[in-house]
Amino acid sequence: MAKDKIKAKIQRYDPEKDQKPYFQEYVVEIDRELTVHELLTKIHKNYDGTLAYRAYKCFKGMCTTCIVKLDGKTVRSCATRVEPGSEITIEPAGGGALIRDLVVDFKKM
Ligand code: FES
Repeated sequence: MAKDKIKAKIQRYDPEKDQKPYFQEYVVEIDRELTVHELLTKIHKNYDGTLAYRAYKCFKGMCTTCIVKLDGKTVRSCATRVEPGSEITIEPAGGGALIRDLVVDFKKM
């Protein structure tokens, strides 16, 4: 992967259109290390406004509102960085009911 890009495979799911989740790939131009949350925001703003993910709550890695799975590991997206040149996979965190894309309802198991 070129050093000024990140290839992100992201799980998508819209219960009104999709029978099951699938992965969509984005090649994102970046010029510095980003948090996973910054990457998701960049994709949402510049590449695909339909991508759903949780917004920040605490900004400090404390509340776990923003958790996702990055390459199979559960991480706080606001506190986990990805480097230019990376190829990553982002999925919703487990432990709740999938609402849409990366958004999970943790009150429903
Ligand atoms: S926004 Fe609170 S842990 Fe990420």
